Amino acid sequence: MLEKIRTGIEGLDIILDGGIPRGHCVLLSGSCGTGKTILSQKFLFTGAKEYGEPGLYISLSEPKDKMLAYLQDFEFFDRNLVDSGVVQVVDLTQDERLSNFQPLTTKSLMNAISAVILESKAKRVVIDSVTAICNSLGNQVNIRDFLFELSLQLRYIGCTSILISEVPPMTFQYSVYGIEEFITDGVILMRELENKGDLLRTLQVVKMRGVGHSRTRNIVEINSKGIELKPMFEL
Ligand SMILES: Nc1ncnc2c1ncn2[C@@H]1O[C@H](COP(=O)(O)OP(=O)(O)O)[C@@H](O)[C@H]1O
Ligand SMILES: [Mg+2]
Repeated sequence: MLEKIRTGIEGLDIILDGGIPRGHCVLLSGSCGTGKTILSQKFLFTGAKEYGEPGLYISLSEPKDKMLAYLQDFEFFDRNLVDSGVVQVVDLTQDERLSNFQPLTTKSLMNAISAVILESKAKRVVIDSVTAICNSLGNQVNIRDFLFELSLQLRYIGCTSILISEVPPMTFQYSVYGIEEFITDGVILMRELENKGDLLRTLQVVKMRGVGHSRTRNIVEINSKGIELKPMFEL
């Protein structure tokens, strides 16, 4: 049986019969505000706090300080884990290591990301977002090459990873470029659901290689604990 690592989101770990299989590369898709960043931060802090596993958050969408400020109110957040480097947050757009890989091509960007991951010694890695990286690469051929190479590198390095995919709201879409879901071992989809004038959030596991899981849509509640899942019938 595959070794699983807990995400710390109880409902999700139950659906996945223990968590994400170790070494898997999972696409976390959703529109803005659906809870992708909070879910992936909870995943990293759970690994660090409960299992002593180093975590790495590669951000392309938000500066490090802003990201950490948003996390202050969550019970899972522990500034000491960030200060001691067990959870590292790297804003790739500002990282000086990127300047060692100029001119920035598909290959050099890949090398920069691999170097950052290897240097961090992280066991859990989040990239927020692959959509932002792809947007910077321009044409479809570059994007395809980059995504294939990224999935190979992540497997080779052996970390368990979450790749965040930003998709338009109110669509049943996993990715912008249409291949992200095929190069990953799992797909988790976070969506919005309008109910009596309220805009709810939902989560469903669409694919997870090696796991027999439910594909039911669950209600997502964001609170001081982070993210909690509730069955739809509680609506
Ligand atoms: N302490 C909190 N309690 C309840 N909801 C919160 C709290 N902090 C943030 N949120 C909600 O989480 C949303 C942001 O979630 P986030 O994970 O950043 O979304 P995404 O990364 O998918 O864009 C905010 O729009 C807000 O509604
Ligand atoms: Mg986000």
